[in-house]
Amino acid sequence: MLRLPRRRLPRPPRRAACTGPGRRLLLSTPIFYANGPPHIGHLYSALLADALHRHRGLRGAGPGRLSTGTDEHGLKIQQAAAAAGTSPPELCERVSGLFRQALTQAGVSFTDFVRTSQPRHQRAVQRFWGALRDGGALYKGSYEGWYCTAEECFLPESQLAERRDAQGRPCKVSLETGHQVHWTKEENYMFRLSAFRDPLWKWLQENPHAVSPDPFYQRVLRWLEEDLPDLSVSRESSRLQWGIPVPGDPTQTIYVWVDALVNYLSVVGYPTAHGEWWPGVHVVGKDILKFHAVYWPALLMAVGLRPPEQILVHSHWTVHGQKMSKSLGNVVDPFSCMGQYTVDGFRYFLLRQGVPERDCDYYHEKVLKVVNSELADALGGLLNRSTALSINPSNTYPCFSESCFPKVSDSRETKGTGRASAEDYEFLASVASLPLQVAAYFEGFQIYKALECITLCVRQTNGFFQRHRPWKLDRKDPEEQLWLDTIIHVTLECLRIFGTLLQPVIPHTADKLLSRLGVEPQERALSSLTFLPRYSGKPCPFEGRQLGPDTGILFHRLEKSREHQRETKKL
Ligand code: MSP
Repeated sequence: MLRLPRRRLPRPPRRAACTGPGRRLLLSTPIFYANGPPHIGHLYSALLADALHRHRGLRGAGPGRLSTGTDEHGLKIQQAAAAAGTSPPELCERVSGLFRQALTQAGVSFTDFVRTSQPRHQRAVQRFWGALRDGGALYKGSYEGWYCTAEECFLPESQLAERRDAQGRPCKVSLETGHQVHWTKEENYMFRLSAFRDPLWKWLQENPHAVSPDPFYQRVLRWLEEDLPDLSVSRESSRLQWGIPVPGDPTQTIYVWVDALVNYLSVVGYPTAHGEWWPGVHVVGKDILKFHAVYWPALLMAVGLRPPEQILVHSHWTVHGQKMSKSLGNVVDPFSCMGQYTVDGFRYFLLRQGVPERDCDYYHEKVLKVVNSELADALGGLLNRSTALSINPSNTYPCFSESCFPKVSDSRETKGTGRASAEDYEFLASVASLPLQVAAYFEGFQIYKALECITLCVRQTNGFFQRHRPWKLDRKDPEEQLWLDTIIHVTLECLRIFGTLLQPVIPHTADKLLSRLGVEPQERALSSLTFLPRYSGKPCPFEGRQLGPDTGILFHRLEKSREHQRETKKL
C-alpha cells in the first residue's frame, strides 16, 4: 500500500470561495432522500447554499445557479415504499413534492430542482457510466460485505458494532448511525477507486480549500492515508429494481450513490452543455463527506472531468442534545417551525446559530431568545425609534451635518469642535468596515460569524442613539436641530447597511426594512454599498428623501408556544 506522509498541510490565507467577479458558478445542495419528509437538518443544508447564492448575486459576482432536488432510487426508497404500502414512484412523487414545497416556502432561491427519476438525469447517468467504462475504470468482480441500507453503502468491520435486534437476536449495526447492516454477496461492477489515491492526494495538496472548514479537509486526508479499496458501483437487479440499469447489462442496477452524485452534472446539461458550469461548489453535511470528497472527485477524474471546485461541509443539528431520529420521535418539522417562528425568524436562527465545524443544538426557548433579542428588539426597535414621528415628524432621511460630526483621521483626536464623542467615531469605524467583514465571512463559509458582526453593530447603533437622547433635543434651536438630524441620518445609514447585508439571510425582513427607509430595489446591491458618504464629503443620494410607508413593526416578538408553556408549567 502506498504510504502518504502523515502531516498537516500548510494553509495559505483564505481565498474567495464562491465569488470572483464575472465568473459563472454552480452551487448545489445535496439531493434529499425521498423516503421521508424534510426535517430542519435538510433545511439547514439548503439555507447555507441559498445564503451563499443570494450573497453572490447581490455582489454581482457573475451568473449563478443553485441546484437542489431529490434522490429517489435505491434499496432504501424501495423498502420505504413497500413498508408504506405504495410504489416507489408514488412515494417519490409525494415526498419530492414536500421537499420542493418546504424549500420554496423557506425562500430557497433554487434555479433547478432535479429528481433522479427524471429522464434527463437518467440519460446523464448512463452517459457517465459509459464514460467510466470506456475509460477502463470499471471491471466486473464478486463483492461481499456488510451493506447498510440506511446509508446505502458497504461498511468495513472497523465501522460496525455488535447489538441485539428487536427479537433479541445478535446483529451488527453501523457504529456511526446505529442502523443494522446485512451480509451481501453479489456479482458487481467495481470502480478502480484505489488507483485514484495519488491523484486525489495531489488535488487536495494543490487545493487546500477544496474541502472546508479545515477539520473536514484534514479528515479527508486521513481517509486517503487509510486503505482505499475499489468501490462496488452496481447491484444485482434481482435485489434492486428501483434504479437506473447498467447500460448493456440489465442484470445490474447502477449504485445509488453514483446515480445521485451525477445530479450535479445533469442539472447543467451533461454530457453536452455542462462545460461552462463545471466544476461546481457543493454544500454537504458531514455524514456524506466521503462520498463527495473521495468517491465523487475520483469518479470525475476517471471520466476526464475536474473535481469539484469546493466542498463546503457542515455539521448536524441535535434536538435538546439528542440526535434527531424517527425512533426517538424528536424529528423537527420545518413547516411547523416556519409557521411558529416565521420564515425569516427560522432562517435567521439556523444561520446565526449553525456553526459548520460543530454540531448545534435546537430547542424552542433558544429560537425565541435569539430571534426576539436580535431581530425584534435590537433591529426592529432601532428602526422603530429612529423613524418614530415624534422624533422625525417630516418622515424624511434627514441631513448630515459635518460641523456636528467632523471628519477626523484618528478617533482619539475629536478636538471638541463637533458633538460626536470618541465612542461615536469608533462605532462609525465598526459599521464602515462591516460590509468587507461580512463578505469575508461569507466567502469563508462562516455565515454565523457575519451575523454575529452585524448584530454587534446593531447593538452599537442602539447605544449611539441612546447615548445622545435625540428625543431630549430642542428642535426649535437650530444647533440642536442640526445635531438631531445628524443622529437620525447616521442611524438610518447604519440601518441601510444592516438591511442590505441581511438580505441573503432574512430576505423578507430586509426588504421591509429597506422599503421603509426608501431604498429602491436597484440601490440594494452589495457591490455599490457605501456607508455614510456625507462623512467623507461626498453626496448622499438618500439625504432629504421621503421615507417609505410605515408598514408596521419590522419583526413581531415571538411568543412561547402553548405546548411549551404547558411543558414549563409541568416542570
Ligand atoms: N441523498 C443523500 C445525498 C446525495 S447528494 C448527491 C443524502 N440525503 S439526506 O436526505 O439524508 O441528507 C441530505 C442533507 O441533509 C445532507 O447534507 C445531510 O448531512 C443533511 N442532514 C441530515 N440530517 C441532518 C441534521 N440532523 N442536521 C443537519 N443536517 C443534516 O444524504
